[in-house]
Amino acid sequence: MKIFLDTANIASIRHYSEMGMVDGITTNPTLLSKEGGDPEEIIRKIVKMVQGPVSLEVISTEVTQIMEEAYILKQYGSNVVIKVPMIPDGLKAVKKLREEGIDTNVTLVFSATQALLAAKAGASYVSPFIGRLDDIGNDGMSLIRDINQIFKNYQYNTKILVASVRHPIHVIESAKVGADVVTLPPDILGKMFLHPLTDKGLKTFISDWENLKKTNPSIKIL
Ligand code: E4P
Repeated sequence: MKIFLDTANIASIRHYSEMGMVDGITTNPTLLSKEGGDPEEIIRKIVKMVQGPVSLEVISTEVTQIMEEAYILKQYGSNVVIKVPMIPDGLKAVKKLREEGIDTNVTLVFSATQALLAAKAGASYVSPFIGRLDDIGNDGMSLIRDINQIFKNYQYNTKILVASVRHPIHVIESAKVGADVVTLPPDILGKMFLHPLTDKGLKTFISDWENLKKTNPSIKIL
């Protein structure tokens, strides 16, 4: 399963890229607005830093304007994926962009029917927002299971990009289902590193080594 970072924060992208954890990036207008500063400059930096796909979202809701925006966004780099909302004009744009060989990510997907339509239009990725479904008392993960089954039944090439991830259990469940990608806010990825027994064990190893050094002052290593 690939891990994308769901952020426009350059420091986080750099931090996790140094560990080889960043297979791609998803952004949206909200994430870019959180960073402040010049969004174009931020986008330029992200696209340069990351080798994998970088989803950049259009704002327009009418097909001709979506296409115009898509061409502008695509100029930032060959790894740019055009993120398009799950609306009828969005899917018209997805179909046109597919015909032109441009990758798309259909966002704001909340049902299996929406995912099916996005796949039929030729989306490269669908982004079901599982956390927002959980927030309103639905089961986000069951949507991932349904989409996975549907895509398998009909051999759609569209990848399932699990979005709106709220905690590490969402990540494990996505991997168990066989989702292609999870896109994670940096703090969720950070939580995946943590285990109290790791910290406890490391503390003991370090203090035991310090004690050993005291009784063997001639030890050369460390
Ligand atoms: C995905 O592409 C979206 O940017 C994101 O996952 C939305 O997450 P949220 O529900 O936490 O805003």
